[in-house]
Amino acid sequence: MSATIRQAAGRDAAQLAELAAVTFPLACPPGSNPDDIALYLEANLGQASFEQYLADPLRTIFVAEHDGALLAYTLLVSLPPSDADVAALLTGLPAVELSKCYAHPDHHGAGLAGRIMAASADCAFGQGAASLWLGVNNENARAVKFYGKHGFGIVGTKTFTLGTLVEEDFVMVRPAP
Ligand SMILES: CC(C)(COP(=O)(O)OP(=O)(O)OC[C@H]1O[C@@H](n2cnc3c(N)ncnc32)[C@H](O)[C@@H]1OP(=O)(O)O)[C@@H](O)C(=O)NCCC(=O)NCCS
Repeated sequence: MSATIRQAAGRDAAQLAELAAVTFPLACPPGSNPDDIALYLEANLGQASFEQYLADPLRTIFVAEHDGALLAYTLLVSLPPSDADVAALLTGLPAVELSKCYAHPDHHGAGLAGRIMAASADCAFGQGAASLWLGVNNENARAVKFYGKHGFGIVGTKTFTLGTLVEEDFVMVRPAP
């Protein structure tokens, strides 16, 4: 199977929301409250949110598509971090946030996530980013390993609030080549 990696467009919003509903729970630590996950999805990863992201010139979404189905997506955010802990950790400026990197579980371990990561990094660095950064739950060992394989190193931690739970994320950074 050879998926196409491309920048997303407005028509992708509904399918992106469907993919996010399948993949976001996989990034949450065991013990996360399903109601909190549902609320987060509704507030941040529904169709209306994706329509806003796709219309925002400071946000870029890449998708992997095969036979009309979206199999993976990334979201890049070209804004300074709002979290002071993150801002204090970043030295390569301007830094772009890899805010989302999610593949459908049927396609984990298939190289697809690596391809969409490469396209996203090329885009950010091609537009002048000095570094890419991301936050990843400290118990998400698969994702931490994946990011490590793709040039990211842990530089510190930040908190992530999901409902009433305050989680710890690793902050990982990949410098521009
Ligand atoms: C994170 C994600 C995009 C990575 O894509 P992927 O196709 O799974 O990544 P890869 O298989 O290339 O790399 C994962 C690595 O972790 C390893 N791994 C798998 N499970 C693991 C575990 N429980 N602990 C440690 N390593 C693990 C794999 O063996 C692989 O390493 P290898 O290439 O040396 O064999 C994908 O897993 C995903 O979408 N996960 C759910 C959503 C998520 O967590 N997104 C990140 C949010 S920050």
